[in-house]
Amino acid sequence: MVKVNVFRYEPESNEDPRIDSFEIEEKENMTVLDTLFLIVEDQDPTVSFRCACRLGMCGSCGMMINGRGRLACRTKIANLGDEITVSPMRNYPIVKDLAVDMKPFFNNLQRVKPYFVPKEDTDEFAVIPPDSGRREIIDENSDCITCGLCFQSCDAVKMRNGEFIGPAALARAYNLVADERDGVRDERLTLVTGQDGAFECHSFGACTEVCPKGINPMETIQKLKSKKIRKSVGLKWK
Ligand code: FES
Repeated sequence: MVKVNVFRYEPESNEDPRIDSFEIEEKENMTVLDTLFLIVEDQDPTVSFRCACRLGMCGSCGMMINGRGRLACRTKIANLGDEITVSPMRNYPIVKDLAVDMKPFFNNLQRVKPYFVPKEDTDEFAVIPPDSGRREIIDENSDCITCGLCFQSCDAVKMRNGEFIGPAALARAYNLVADERDGVRDERLTLVTGQDGAFECHSFGACTEVCPKGINPMETIQKLKSKKIRKSVGLKWK
């Protein structure tokens, strides 16, 4: 049997946050998400959490599991010991129990204009072959599933009360700044290295540690800083 401690809180009620404990029979290859479904089905249907794909693709099941940000659907309980504690991601308002409001994350993503803007003189799709060096520059960051785990682990986000744009949004911005087909690279670089941007990152590296896709946002943010510095002193940056 495994003991699962679940953080419970409903902001709209007058009750204080609490931890409820449940006993679950462990099965082979069981994930934390499986245990939450068992709790809802057999013990307490009011436990709230978010998920969709159950495959590590949609990014909606991020939570704190034994003190570390992880995807519940990709975390096997066999690796967690006899007692598991789940709580909501940090740096987000709690909606209920383990479900958080992702607005701070997506609002910040919106701030970096996360969409490709074609150059004015482009009349065809610009193809970049998958095996070209130009493609490799942006390959890794393209795997981001916007789960928000990097944002929840980031101390700069915490210290700046969510004003710091955050790792995922900056990594997305880098992909566009590095993309020679993008028509607003200068404007983008200025935007993401100004107020609340890349220079607010203290390189603690928690974002890189928790990313379930193995992306390294901290290194990417350093690359943005480097581009900005090179541009400022008149060196080649693109
Ligand atoms: S449910 Fe989609 S990533 Fe976990």
